[in-house]
Amino acid sequence: MTRDIVIPEAARPYLEAQRGAISDKLAEGHGAWAAALLQSYEDDFAQIKPALPDYAPVNVLDIGSGLGGIHIWLDDYFRTMAPGHPSTFNLLDGDNDPPTPNKNWMTHSNRGVALSFLEANGVHRVNYRRPGNIGFVPRGVDLVLSLQAWCFHLEPRFYLDQALYLSQPDTVFVMDVRAGRPEWNEQLASKLEIVKVLAHKPKYRRIQFRRKPA
Ligand SMILES: C[S@@+](CC[C@H](N)C(=O)[O-])C[C@H]1O[C@@H](n2cnc3c(N)ncnc32)[C@H](O)[C@@H]1O
Repeated sequence: MTRDIVIPEAARPYLEAQRGAISDKLAEGHGAWAAALLQSYEDDFAQIKPALPDYAPVNVLDIGSGLGGIHIWLDDYFRTMAPGHPSTFNLLDGDNDPPTPNKNWMTHSNRGVALSFLEANGVHRVNYRRPGNIGFVPRGVDLVLSLQAWCFHLEPRFYLDQALYLSQPDTVFVMDVRAGRPEWNEQLASKLEIVKVLAHKPKYRRIQFRRKPA
């Protein structure tokens, strides 16, 4: 592990729900859970790092960001590349939701909690909006990211056209694509092509895409 993070009290229930893969650690106490949370971000960052744009600052769109902890790592990374030229992180998820996930896969996130979590960890250039409001994101997004949200709980078609509209020819797309949904793969393949499979899990593949040439 290379860094530590601050976890404000209000962020805990949201992170417990949104990073469900580590929920078994809750029984071992806060310290074990917090260590597993940190490790889960480290693992995510190590997997997506080879796909990241090799320039900074970048304009990032994260669909189904939750509290957006991965941006702590992205901000560090791009800041090292271009000190003094911070990247912008555009996060799309629910606002003022209770933290409990629900069976219909509605949102379960919170703008104020996300902003204070990221602020406490040194990430300051964050725009966070609820779904249906994607127009807040400036065109020319360099990186479209979605970890276990869009293409995992939500069909690609929900955001595909909007994400493409905001993209540019060399935009990097990284999404977790749910296994066993051939029609989802077809939706994606109509507009994007696979560059690399970054991770292969029983429930999903973490895939780097790029726009299909026009
Ligand atoms: C498993 S969590 C992952 C959160 C975050 N990407 C992470 O890796 O920590 C799934 C997220 O998808 C969000 N979500 C569900 N429906 C959504 C929708 N229609 N639009 C945007 N986000 C949505 C949920 O609120 C939740 O924060």
